[in-house]
Amino acid sequence: MNPDLVSVLRCPVCADRLALDGRTARCAQGHAYDLAKQGYLNLLPAASNGIEGDSAAMVGARTVFLGTGYYVAIRDALILAAGLGADDLVVEVGAGTGYYLAGVLGTSDRRRGIALDVSKYAARRAAKVDPRIASVVCDAWKELPVVDGSAQVVLNVFAPRNAKEMARILAPDGRLLVVTPNQQHLAELVDVLGMVSVDEDKERRLQDSLDGAFVRTGSEVVEETMSLDRTAVEQLVLMTPSARHLNYRDLLQQIAVLPEPTIVTLSVTLSTWRPQ
Ligand SMILES: C[S@@+](CC[C@H](N)C(=O)[O-])C[C@H]1O[C@@H](n2cnc3c(N)ncnc32)[C@H](O)[C@@H]1O
Ligand SMILES: [Zn+2]
Repeated sequence: MNPDLVSVLRCPVCADRLALDGRTARCAQGHAYDLAKQGYLNLLPAASNGIEGDSAAMVGARTVFLGTGYYVAIRDALILAAGLGADDLVVEVGAGTGYYLAGVLGTSDRRRGIALDVSKYAARRAAKVDPRIASVVCDAWKELPVVDGSAQVVLNVFAPRNAKEMARILAPDGRLLVVTPNQQHLAELVDVLGMVSVDEDKERRLQDSLDGAFVRTGSEVVEETMSLDRTAVEQLVLMTPSARHLNYRDLLQQIAVLPEPTIVTLSVTLSTWRPQ
């Protein structure tokens, strides 16, 4: 892990800056966190262990599905909206495999990223996705282990939104990019496969969750149709929260009778926010 990136991280116990000493990140108060052999740093306090992030199977499905490029339109929209300078820091909250973060960093060697996720399986992936990214395990509902005002861009893609903390870590002229699903998102699969549907109040909940800490500066719909074979449908379902409550054998039977390819709508809103 890049020592420069560790110096942007905060100790989860005392909020002092961390510094890398060999394979251990330490604060001045003597709290110490060993780098995992898979390359990520676990800054989740022991008392928080047991919070459920994405499972190994969900992260595996996400890696394959995103790697095939089905959501590249979302990634491209984020790259444009980020408008990064040559040496900016980007933090992704609930980063999963780091697919969007790595894309937004583009080709500049001097840009850096911090991938935050509560799932160790996701953190393992994000640690490998790009050498410019530091992968950190933490709980996005608690204080984020990142120094005040250090990020030029914060990404939040289908992930938990802790407005106060995301505003704290952003530079005053920084921007928050949020991707949320629209009602039509994956609509062709929701009923047939019993997936979790997007609630009608999603838009109001987005506004409520960020009000007070952020002002919206833009919003765009990213929409297209995807042509999915049955394997891709299976991976898509298994990477979503629906994976937690669906019976796998029933799911496979339902997928087996889908037409091939199945045409599925991708429909999300990318909104841009400035800290207030
Ligand atoms: C739907 S996935 C999205 C992942 C990634 N942004 C993407 O779109 O590929 C949600 C992610 O949030 C993570 N997550 C859930 N609860 C969290 C929490 N309390 N703190 C940090 N991450 C969390 C999950 O582990 C998962 O990786
Ligand atoms: Zn400390």
